[in-house]
Amino acid sequence: MNNQNIEVILCDITTLNVDAIVNAANSSLLGGGGVDGAIHRAAGPRLLEECRTLHGCKTGEAKLTKGYNLPAKYVIHTVGPIYNPRLQEQMAQQLADCYRNSIQMADETGCKSIAFPAISTGVYRYPLRDATEIAVKETLDALKLHTGIEKVIFCCFDQRTLETYKEILKKYLS
Ligand code: APR
Repeated sequence: MNNQNIEVILCDITTLNVDAIVNAANSSLLGGGGVDGAIHRAAGPRLLEECRTLHGCKTGEAKLTKGYNLPAKYVIHTVGPIYNPRLQEQMAQQLADCYRNSIQMADETGCKSIAFPAISTGVYRYPLRDATEIAVKETLDALKLHTGIEKVIFCCFDQRTLETYKEILKKYLS
């Protein structure tokens, strides 16, 4: 880790003034509830207009749009896996792909800062601890390849997520 820093904060991702925020979208990219709904509400209708031109997104992949009325310049839309305990390996790989592909997309776009929600841990019911292990490990690995990214924020929306991220990040950074 050179000049790259990672923060864990309790916040609403739509308020963050970073180069890119990551949206936990669904494969249609046409909006939804949770953080997806919040981002579309805050960005305004032009976000949906641009999303329509992208023709959806596969699980684990990432697609870029502008941020419109958001303080963030870009939104990186990624689709996390819908948790299925019988497919643990595949789920873990798909969730890891979300973080890796989002960081790659941000770096290729020239972003210096990126904020992630806790992908798949809401409606998609991914167990929080397992998802956080994957998020932290994959992000740290991806940052080694993408040194243009100087700041990563893990944006937690509740206390339990915040504490889980802090505990797991401490383990990886100690
Ligand atoms: N800022 C940051 N985090 C948020 C916000 C917000 N404004 N709103 C919700 N979250 C958090 C949730 O509390 C959860 O920790 O984002 C995390 C991901 O939860 P979801 O938004 O439910 O996303 P996910 O579990 O990946 O499910 C995706 O839900 O909203 C639909 O269209 C979306 O079908 C897709 C599915």
